[in-house]
Amino acid sequence: MIRVAFFDTKAYDKPSFERFGSGHDIHFRFLETKLNEDTVELARGCDAVCVFVNDTVNAAVIDKLYEYGVRLVALRSAGYNNVDVHAAFGKVHVVHVPAYSPYAVAEHAMALLLTSVRRIHKAYNRTREFNFSLNGLTGFDFHGKTVGVIGTGKIGRIFIDICRGFGMKVIAYDLFPAKDSGIEYVPLDELFARSDVISLHCPLTDETHHMINAAAIGQMKKGVVIVNTSRGALVDTEALLEGIKSRKVGAACLDVYEEEADIFFEDRSGHILNDELLSRLISMPNVIVTSHQAFLTEEALNNIAETTVGNILSCFEKDGICDNELCYRCGSIEQCKKDRKQKCF
Ligand code: NAI
Repeated sequence: MIRVAFFDTKAYDKPSFERFGSGHDIHFRFLETKLNEDTVELARGCDAVCVFVNDTVNAAVIDKLYEYGVRLVALRSAGYNNVDVHAAFGKVHVVHVPAYSPYAVAEHAMALLLTSVRRIHKAYNRTREFNFSLNGLTGFDFHGKTVGVIGTGKIGRIFIDICRGFGMKVIAYDLFPAKDSGIEYVPLDELFARSDVISLHCPLTDETHHMINAAAIGQMKKGVVIVNTSRGALVDTEALLEGIKSRKVGAACLDVYEEEADIFFEDRSGHILNDELLSRLISMPNVIVTSHQAFLTEEALNNIAETTVGNILSCFEKDGICDNELCYRCGSIEQCKKDRKQKCF
């Protein structure tokens, strides 16, 4: 029996994991708490932990997991910026779900963008109160506008296709431009200067942390719309707020927020929000915040559960090799995935 401590469980997680786990020798211990240094004790007696984006898997947590005999961290997300993969090497294997539905995230990015630019959120509230005025609801055509896409991986590429469907001109920036893709890659400065809409689809790394800061916003067009469905800390929130207040930024569509870990995914409607920046952002008429829900479709939840159960089984059964393992054996995660012929350590 493979025992898995399943941290940060939400009601929507259980059905798919129970379905894909049934028939296998896996037992999920569903826990509502997030994994961190204070809660890692709950993983005692388990072989694996299953974590999501706001669980903390730093070096201290990894050392404790190792001490308790936990041998696997199974991320049920694509992003792994919350896991210290360097610290994990040689102690605890780390697996993730590289793709579960890039369509879910790309479509949500476009949903936020359309909602914001065509003021659907305002119209919805108005008509519910029989206010049929159109004042203040003027948007702009997407057709012919330039969208700058940062990160042209699985999600970014789908978002580009969606934008092209609207007749938008697409320019992009990526550390590793996709060959023969027909995408016009430009330097980051040029992307900032030319884009009417900027959408972020790159991972959070030391390099991309606060890539949208005061200097970047300074280079952007007046009225630029910024969409972030990737990771909150790609954006310096204070700088974004200043950009909105100075009218440089026309609108912001945010599915992620750099301090989301203790706020998102919970009903806090009866509480006073102790986060001035987020409160201020939400109070802005041209900011839309969703609480990290871009991934949340039926298809994505099923794919996440199916792949995660498969990851866990392949780590503990047969030769122990899992295609979705993350490690630094070859110096870089991408390289390692390409070269793997045997278990990473
Ligand atoms: P991917 O790995 O397919 O693509 C990422 C792209 O970013 C790659 O082309 C890579 O070369 C590029 N990149 C890496 N470093 C860069 C840099 N410094 N500057 C510019 N580009 C850089 O990843 P995928 O599946 O497209 O996901 C993108 C991000 O979306 C994830 O890292 C994750 O943070 C976020 N995400 C958000 C979700 C949500 O619910 N809001 C759900 C799933 C993913």
